[in-house]
Amino acid sequence: MEWSELEERCAACRGCSLWKTRTNLVFGTGSRDADLMFVGEAPGEQEDLTGIPFVGAAGQLLDLYLEAADIPRESVYIANILKCRPPHNRDPLPEEGDACMTHLREQVKLIRPSMIVCLGRISAMRLIRPDYRITREHGQFVTRGAFLMTAVYHPSALLRDPSKREDMYRDMKAIRRALDERKGRKETFTSV
Ligand code: URA
Repeated sequence: MEWSELEERCAACRGCSLWKTRTNLVFGTGSRDADLMFVGEAPGEQEDLTGIPFVGAAGQLLDLYLEAADIPRESVYIANILKCRPPHNRDPLPEEGDACMTHLREQVKLIRPSMIVCLGRISAMRLIRPDYRITREHGQFVTRGAFLMTAVYHPSALLRDPSKREDMYRDMKAIRRALDERKGRKETFTSV
């Protein structure tokens, strides 16, 4: 599948009922050639209004961590498990996640990132393990097929509980290092 086809499919998707209440589809943003992909939970109000993931208060905090870890936002790809905002930011229903995962899988296939970082528990429970414990396991790396995966606190959780911010800073720095290491390995491998 090509990008244009996937975008058309998402725009026309009726896999759940969220298309009825959304303002804009929040497809995803960033480099389609990214080594690093972030996956959040679902668009919030600002994202629904703009069609761009992580542009509200949580997104602005995420930007600060990206900057602190020396990861340019335009070098990564950012998407969500859900592409439409649940009304009043309610938790996504399992069947909404199931329906939307098809699109995320196609996005991952097109980007082929080296690393996927889940933003928050809901994303980690979908992409890493259903019983993922974010407080205990954030920042730990696991290999899944071709991908290195990890999860960090959701930026909204950091807004609610600033005591988690130091952990987030450490995790983002570790992500930067792991990315450099994988890149180095790939370059060494392809240059021989
Ligand atoms: N929270 C998310 O999980 N995703 C967004 O795009 C914005 C807020």
